[in-house]
Amino acid sequence: MKKIIGNLDIETAEIYAELIKRNVLEDEFGGEFIVAFNASHAIKYPNPLTTDPEKKLLNEYGIGKALKKIKGVFVPEIHAFCNGWNLPFLVQQTLNLTPYDNLNSNQKIKAENQYLKQMELIKAHGIISGDTSIHDNCGVRKFDGNLYLYDFTDWREIK
Ligand SMILES: Nc1ncnc2c1ncn2[C@@H]1O[C@H](COP(=O)(O)OP(=O)(O)O)[C@@H](O)[C@H]1O
Ligand SMILES: [Mg+2]
Repeated sequence: MKKIIGNLDIETAEIYAELIKRNVLEDEFGGEFIVAFNASHAIKYPNPLTTDPEKKLLNEYGIGKALKKIKGVFVPEIHAFCNGWNLPFLVQQTLNLTPYDNLNSNQKIKAENQYLKQMELIKAHGIISGDTSIHDNCGVRKFDGNLYLYDFTDWREIK
């Protein structure tokens, strides 16, 4: 059965599912997932070898929502988790980020401070980060100069 958790209309979900199926978007490859971009969204879906993709993307949806509520932590808006089409997928805000390794030395110091501060806040809220490091799964957003974290498939929340 087709199911949308979060805020996305069914017509848009249908269009995205079709675009994923036809493989017509510009893609970025992570370890287990592929992120495709259109004008408004970054759409994340599994590669064929990924185990338990529904569970991982649903976890990412929940963690993303929890992180968004923490003042001082910067993450993309996670709009929706969609399941029941050809592949499960997550619809999130597209961020234009500069990776840490591409920053100059002043920008690196600023990013390091932001990284440590955000990680501290996240820990204080009972959230355990997964494979995120200063070099991986984060970047400085060109729009506001803040360090943003993404990719929460393997993060955990202690309740
Ligand atoms: N919200 C986003 N905005 C812009 N680029 C993104 C966004 N989310 C992911 N990406 C890009 O897609 C790549 C893969 O996404 P990621 O969530 O890290 O997947 P994986 O779980 O496979 O590592 C990232 O390294 C990054 O370059
Ligand atoms: Mg990643």
